[in-house]
Amino acid sequence: MRLRGYFTPIVQYARTLRAISPVAQQRFEGSTMFTDTSLGQQLSSQCRRSIPWQRATPLIFSQHQCSAFHHHSVARDLAGKRQELAHSIHTCRCLHQEMGTVEGTTQGRILKGKEYTCIQAELLEGGAIGLITLDRPKALNALSEALMKEVLDALQTYDADPQVGAIVITGKDKAFAAGADIKEMKDKRFVDAYASRFVFHWNSISAIRKPIIAAVNGYALGGGCELAMLCDIVLAGEKAMFGQPELNLGTIPGIGGTQRLIREVGKSRAMEMILTGKHFMDAEEAAQKGLVSRVVPGSNDALLAEAISVGKQIAQQSKPVVALAKECVNAAYEIGLQEGIKKEQSLFYATFALEDQKEGMQAFIEKRKPDFKHK
Ligand code: CAA
Repeated sequence: MRLRGYFTPIVQYARTLRAISPVAQQRFEGSTMFTDTSLGQQLSSQCRRSIPWQRATPLIFSQHQCSAFHHHSVARDLAGKRQELAHSIHTCRCLHQEMGTVEGTTQGRILKGKEYTCIQAELLEGGAIGLITLDRPKALNALSEALMKEVLDALQTYDADPQVGAIVITGKDKAFAAGADIKEMKDKRFVDAYASRFVFHWNSISAIRKPIIAAVNGYALGGGCELAMLCDIVLAGEKAMFGQPELNLGTIPGIGGTQRLIREVGKSRAMEMILTGKHFMDAEEAAQKGLVSRVVPGSNDALLAEAISVGKQIAQQSKPVVALAKECVNAAYEIGLQEGIKKEQSLFYATFALEDQKEGMQAFIEKRKPDFKHK
């Protein structure tokens, strides 16, 4: 592969850091525990061989992590070495783009020529995964109108991109999202909310055909919990905390919380959470009740890596078949059992019109991996 291209600037970067200060070196080590891709493992072992001071640290590199290099705060420690480091970072960034990152990535804020201010959007894994990182950590990722507009725009961009097989949405620091932006909406009158169809457009997330995986760590409250429930798969980090505290603010959930939570956790628990506005649900309980599929132990990075790995597994399937399956499962929310079964049956029959169905079944018989063409 293009391993050598990746490896050289990373070593260069690491050497530069080593020359600068032990503090910078520690930060570099601390920030480089990422995914377990085979590319990452190869890089890791090469790095361990070539950079003796890293022997004790199980360094694992990935495309995603390379993009993180330029977020690095070591710049503060650089003094006279600034230029050398800048060169290495630039090389890493160029390679990252070359390996399939979004066009002209500027710290993940530009996607297909559109610049975002409240989120980061990056294509990972050669373009197979569209990542959206909610990025208002100081406001605990409060879902302002501008942020939600950007989320919808990025989702629609990924949905229209034939390379993308799955989308991951995640938060930052201690929040997935602490709800709709209270400061922004506090002065709205009924007539403003009604006339502008306030938050109505969030529901268009349901129209996205590509699977959406929420990687939730920290607070997922109010609109944040509702956003997670609008996704197709929810993975929780150990610190995830779900709740619908709208009643504390003198309002009620407005983006499906009263409808979806009851389906996920049952009427009594949903009522307790919504009516008290206080009884939050931690990650373990959320997994027990089925609000999330499972808890991923470890850091935010471990959670994100797992979400990307699930996304990669989905991206390897036939894209039209994934879309049909998602449509069928979601129909169970909307329609009764008999109607749902009829819908499933017609979409099941429809898969027999796809080349991918022929390929998938032939590959099984020939005991090989299917080579899906997505048609
Ligand atoms: N909107 C706007 N700003 C928010 C916010 C929100 N939903 N949640 C947190 N913030 C801001 C805080 O105002 C604070 O900003 P300042 O530094 O400028 O004061 C900053 O984020 C950090 O928050 P805290 O200091 O409160 O952090 P904490 O760790 O002490 O508490 C918390 C964390 C328990 C999540 C608390 O912030 C909180 O209760 N947030 C509000 C949660 C909430 O009620 N969500 C529902 C919103 S309504 C909704 O979502 C309706 C809907 O269905 C559409």
